[in-house]
Amino acid sequence: MRKQFIKNIKGLVQAGEELPTVRRGKQMQTLPVLENAYLALEDNEVIAYGPMSEFPAIIDWREVEVIDASNCYVLPAFIDSHTHTVFATSREEEFVDRINGLSYEEIASRGGGILNSAAKLQNMSEDELYTAAIARIEKMIAAGTGAIEIKSGYGLSAEGEIKMLRVIKKLKETLPIAIKGTFLGAHALPLEYKNNPEGYLHMLIEDVLPQISKENLAQYIDVFCERGYFSVEQMNMMLEAGAKHGLKGKVHVNQFSVLGGVPAAISKGAISVDHLEEIDAIDIDTLAKSTCIATLLPGCSHFLSIPYGAANELMDADAIVALASDFNPGSAPSYDLMHILSLACIKMKMTPQAAINALTINAAAAMELQDTHGKIALGRKSPILLTKEIPSLAYLAYAYTENHIQRVFI
Ligand code: NIG
Ligand code: FE
Repeated sequence: MRKQFIKNIKGLVQAGEELPTVRRGKQMQTLPVLENAYLALEDNEVIAYGPMSEFPAIIDWREVEVIDASNCYVLPAFIDSHTHTVFATSREEEFVDRINGLSYEEIASRGGGILNSAAKLQNMSEDELYTAAIARIEKMIAAGTGAIEIKSGYGLSAEGEIKMLRVIKKLKETLPIAIKGTFLGAHALPLEYKNNPEGYLHMLIEDVLPQISKENLAQYIDVFCERGYFSVEQMNMMLEAGAKHGLKGKVHVNQFSVLGGVPAAISKGAISVDHLEEIDAIDIDTLAKSTCIATLLPGCSHFLSIPYGAANELMDADAIVALASDFNPGSAPSYDLMHILSLACIKMKMTPQAAINALTINAAAAMELQDTHGKIALGRKSPILLTKEIPSLAYLAYAYTENHIQRVFI
């Protein structure tokens, strides 16, 4: 048994037995920080924590690794509830095209973008995709990520989508952190179906979904509901089909335009609506009255130079806001949630407290991991972060190119 005692912690963040399962609206400004604290782990399970003044007498110090966390903070690891971590290769050629004046949508309409990733993925085996993903996930863990949602969506054929989802399932079965898989067959229209979107969606529904069910390959279903991609009606059809196989919705909506996808997805029971760079009053009002989580992706806004999500308007209205990386080769080539924290604070004017809630408690709920992840509590075994010496919690967001992570407990 491995026993670890972290003592003299400057601030133990998001620890408690009575913490809520999500924080919404103004509650997101509340972030519990226990100053001058200790935390005891046994095989990574939290067995005790509290103020140093109540530091318990340890029975056998010889067997315990004692870690002095003076001037350091301890937090639950961040949760990445929206990623496309399984992909073939990077797409920096498109990045250069954008520097030279093309937009993301123009690149996509020339067969670049998602179709470019799909063409590359076709030539890779499950093993090659798995190996490439493992290398990325190791870096994600070292950067402080403690659970990851991963989407398909670069297969765009029955074979390709199943291949991706099997890779995600294998990652889930072999890695020490929680992983959930999302079926995003409706990510873009493959060329073979250029004039037959309904045919493509029916193929996904009739050929792919039953196989996903049979092999238990996904927990969620996603659709890129966007001008030039899939309509609200098509999203509704996919969400209904997914629901028949027990898959809840987590959807890409409002990245470039407001089509009415937010209220539609909520009425279909989606657990989160993601992106929301564009938003209107109806969307905000509907989110404020629902338990659906608004997941904002500032890494995508930064990289594509598109608007940032309206975090404060959503919180003022009482919505539940989460943050995620959207890690993918086209619109967000970074998995670094510490950078997402900075962008949220700098560009979206979220307070560090609200942004940390959005990356822990609320992000865990956006992956339905609220009972195991997102907070530090007795009996939990989920990943924990120890920062380097820092003057305050806000410094994590402020010193935005420094590596703040000293150690990750998994
Ligand atoms: O979340 N918008 C749709 N999907 C991804 C980008 C995919 C890509 O460009 O490869 C996103 O931004
Ligand atoms: Fe995405």
